[in-house]
Amino acid sequence: MKKSKLLSLAIVAVSFGFSGFGLGSQAMADVNPPLAALGPPPVPHDNPQTPEKVELGKLLFFDSRIGGDASVSCADCHMPKQGWGFNDPISRGYPGVIHWRNSQTVINAAYLGKLFWVGAAKSLEAQAPGAALGGVSGNGERDMVEARLAFIPEYVKRFNQVFGDDWPKVNNVWKAMAAYERTLIHKDTPFDKYMRGDKKALSNQQMRGLNLFKGKANCVECHNGPLLTDQKYYNLGVPRAEEWSESGLAQITFRYEQYAKGVTEELYRKIKDDAGLYYRTKQKSDMGKFRTPPLRYTAYTAPFMHNGSFFDFDEVIEFYNNGGGSNDFTDGVMAKNKTPLLKKLGLSDQEKADLAAFLESLSGAEIKMSTPKLPPYAPLPAAANVN
Ligand code: HEC
Ligand code: HEC
Repeated sequence: MKKSKLLSLAIVAVSFGFSGFGLGSQAMADVNPPLAALGPPPVPHDNPQTPEKVELGKLLFFDSRIGGDASVSCADCHMPKQGWGFNDPISRGYPGVIHWRNSQTVINAAYLGKLFWVGAAKSLEAQAPGAALGGVSGNGERDMVEARLAFIPEYVKRFNQVFGDDWPKVNNVWKAMAAYERTLIHKDTPFDKYMRGDKKALSNQQMRGLNLFKGKANCVECHNGPLLTDQKYYNLGVPRAEEWSESGLAQITFRYEQYAKGVTEELYRKIKDDAGLYYRTKQKSDMGKFRTPPLRYTAYTAPFMHNGSFFDFDEVIEFYNNGGGSNDFTDGVMAKNKTPLLKKLGLSDQEKADLAAFLESLSGAEIKMSTPKLPPYAPLPAAANVN
């Protein structure tokens, strides 16, 4: 078969969607999906988009009454002004705790087939309950959420209009939130314009950066396709988050997560670092692996990596220029899994700056939004007259 034919076959395989990614790259290991402009996000058949559903989802995303003590909304950790994430290395948590990982942006999450740092959810509909009910994030309860919403006449009306519910059903909360998130997309960047044919959309420096990204720096090995992620898992040897050693609360959450994720007692006693994909597979070879994140909107989402280790593009590029990190700091607890794909790059200062300029081109205008006015509870009935 001719090489060009092979290539187009690979492109067909990957264009079937994200499940196609694995297929395409397994069958032809050396062909990465090409960088490209971003199209519209996929919409599941059982949750079609309607303007009313999106509007309802927006209210719910900003409404803290979905959370356990009615004080934390999705938007408190995915703040529009903080890149729709949270600007501390480790995210804030449910009141009284802090989280154990960096909060990811929800911008463009609609395109991902694997959500969270280790791909623990496969769809936005499945991700939202994890966030709203999870102990260190929303800490909500399904029946409590339903009961609260039933006391808010505006929601009763809207759930009825959108889903035909007699009263707001919690599963439809997740559907409405997912529909809203499918509108939080970022595809009108200088990079997209360039990819669609506007050759002036990138500066000369950014074009040099793009060539480094695809060539000498080989970022495209993992950050590829229109989202700039292969959605696979790698251990890069990212350094330990300083917050682990400084914050007692972070350590408590970390211990709790080890327990909740069922590590052996032996590991529980030794481990001091996030073992990533290992918690899902319990395979030593998956220790310290995290999903390649998309690189869009990153001009607004620092700090970077699963533990917020790096504060700007320069630090990230320096890390890759050194061939990534090592897991030596884990005293041999973390398996020696560092990906062989990272090697010292030998970039000059000019090349580092070019690469950073290219990363900038993956973010266009900031997506701004103010908190919508949330509907009130029904007034309490007048106290019964007790004689
Ligand atoms: C207390 C903070 C907190 C709250 C509240 C919270 N999140 Fe998150 N969110 C995070 C953190 C931290 C992560 C990454 C966690 C991980 O991978 O283990 C995350 C990850 C995500 C992702 C995955 C993005 C990606 O790139 O894979 C989505 C989508 C998301 N949250 C949506 C929501 C929604 C919807 C809600 C409300 C129901 C919500 N979050 C509530 C902190 C929070
Ligand atoms: C071997 C696969 C691989 C290669 C090659 C690679 N990356 Fe990454 N990249 C990842 C993974 C995996 C993460 C997340 C790691 C973590 O949190 O532990 C990441 C994280 C990032 C982040 C942080 C994004 C965020 O939202 O936190 C940036 C920026 C980045 N990479 C840029 C680059 C650049 C620039 C290059 C080329 C110099 C590159 N990457 C090469 C896999 C790779």
